[in-house]
Amino acid sequence: MADQKTLTVDIGGSGIKAMVLDTNGNPIGKRTRVPTPRPARPDSVLEGIVKLAKGQSDFDRVSVGFPGVIRKGITETAVNLHKDWIGFDLEGVLSKKLDKPVRVLNDADVQGFGAISGKGVELVVTLGTGFGSALFLDGKLVPNLEVAHHPFHRGKTYEEHLGSAALEKAGRKKWQRRVMQAIASLEHLFNYDTLYIGGGNARRLRLDLPPNVKIIPNVAGLLGGIALWRD
Ligand code: BGC
Repeated sequence: MADQKTLTVDIGGSGIKAMVLDTNGNPIGKRTRVPTPRPARPDSVLEGIVKLAKGQSDFDRVSVGFPGVIRKGITETAVNLHKDWIGFDLEGVLSKKLDKPVRVLNDADVQGFGAISGKGVELVVTLGTGFGSALFLDGKLVPNLEVAHHPFHRGKTYEEHLGSAALEKAGRKKWQRRVMQAIASLEHLFNYDTLYIGGGNARRLRLDLPPNVKIIPNVAGLLGGIALWRD
């Protein structure tokens, strides 16, 4: 098959990022970003994606990481965006707007594809506006693992304790301690071989981590976009 260029898009709670990847998944050109519109309704978020697409070089297909549960291209949840996303055909609508085939996956799942080795049980969590999670066995994804809204500590969820709002409120020291507690709790739950920690706030961590826990750069959320086209 001829070379295929992929526009990869990461819809986050504070920014929408985009980049074009070559056939092998290597970046072509620069990452661009627009702030996530507020309220983050489908039409205004789509407008942002179209703007980013116009500013990038040519592409043949599109991958999108979305911060919610995705089934068959439909967004089923969107806790940190807007309720109008529930039941929205993101794949279909964006494909019409850009006149290109589109594939959509949960943002943490995409980030995971950009980071994992493909060996054993690999868990990925992302620290950003929300708390993302993704699980892989020998490189195969268990889709839509949602740790975020599960109880973690004192009646509050992982996301309530570890999301950006909690980081702001509690401060970095306290938040880091919670991250360590979350790692311990997830280790007992998943017995992973490797845990990857990504998302925009991962760079705020100053921790001595066990050898099987790795911090990954947030650009993994774009690089992983190539995996959506591996049939
Ligand atoms: C959502 C997840 C998402 C995560 C990170 C959570 O609130 O429920 O689906 O992956 O935020 O964006």
